[in-house]
Amino acid sequence: MIGIVEKLYRGEFLSDDELRALIETDDKDAAELLRQRADEVRQKHYGKKVFLRGLIEVSSYCKNDCRYCGIRRSNKEAERYRLSREEIMSCCENGYELGFRTFVMQGGEDSFFTDDFLCSVVSEIREKYPDCAITLSLGERSYESYKRLKEAGADRYLLRHEAADPKLYEKLHPAEMSLRNRKDCLFHLKELGYQVGSGFMVGAPYQTTDSLLYDIRFLQSLQPQMIGIGPFVPHHNTEFADTEGGTLQLTLRLLGILRLLFPKVLLPATTALGTIAPNGRELGLMTGCNVVMPNLSPVKVRKKYDLYDNKICTGEEAAECRGCLERRITSAGYEIVSERGDCCR
Ligand code: 5AD
Ligand code: FES
Repeated sequence: MIGIVEKLYRGEFLSDDELRALIETDDKDAAELLRQRADEVRQKHYGKKVFLRGLIEVSSYCKNDCRYCGIRRSNKEAERYRLSREEIMSCCENGYELGFRTFVMQGGEDSFFTDDFLCSVVSEIREKYPDCAITLSLGERSYESYKRLKEAGADRYLLRHEAADPKLYEKLHPAEMSLRNRKDCLFHLKELGYQVGSGFMVGAPYQTTDSLLYDIRFLQSLQPQMIGIGPFVPHHNTEFADTEGGTLQLTLRLLGILRLLFPKVLLPATTALGTIAPNGRELGLMTGCNVVMPNLSPVKVRKKYDLYDNKICTGEEAAECRGCLERRITSAGYEIVSERGDCCR
């Protein structure tokens, strides 16, 4: 196993069998070596820097019905909200003062957010904060819509492919959604010049090692600037309420593998990782991650953006994720920077 880690570290091609073995191994020495190598590669390209993304959860309305997701449209108990233009702008103002230089507008697929509305919000942010990156994470939209948003000033787009294994994708999503369309969206975004983030859940229901291989091979073909992965965490109002979630160890192993396969990629230590273990994000940072995405949403809506159970950063105490994260990052030996944090390739 040590040999496979070193081969990956040297940038050599790994066969499917080698990758499978590495994904599945419970060898502790290999896990520690993988962590060290991932950290080395991350430091080679990004030093000890950790980039911040201010996450603004703009809407909990969603027309989709992903079977694992707490804000799926058929969850009648989900509380719905959407932020107004003024609320979004005030999140940015607050974020800018706290040192954020990237704003991420994320939400369910909410048809209230027309191109006209979004373009006008994006251009307002662009005008007020010329030194900031604007990231959108609003699901699948048309080529034309992505194009207009880019022209209005958006720089980046996050759209996890969720599952590149066609059989798994089908099991996790309703019939009207398709992997083909999702992949098309991602390639459209790249073609339009967005910096693109994709990714998947670790330990999703029905996921196998081969599904993860599909994810890795798909990411190699897409070559995104960012890769967001986090453990699957069950939500009580979904059919997977009693299904086991993704584990810390597997998520860390995949983070290490991704850092070595994509040396310059932007890799967030996600909120879901911080949810399944109190020091999950710190461990992520030590295993190749170089981005954190603190919540900038108004505290009154945070509990309503309820993707999975026990999500952290939703209480009153989390009004200031910035300070909390700064302490966590420093304690892990890294340093928060107030920069846009573009991909270094
Ligand atoms: N557990 C973990 N992550 C989830 N997401 C949605 N539902 C869950 C869940 N139950 C992730 C999806 C989506 C991102 C915004 O949140 O991967 O892309
Ligand atoms: Fe949000 Fe700690 S990062 S409360």
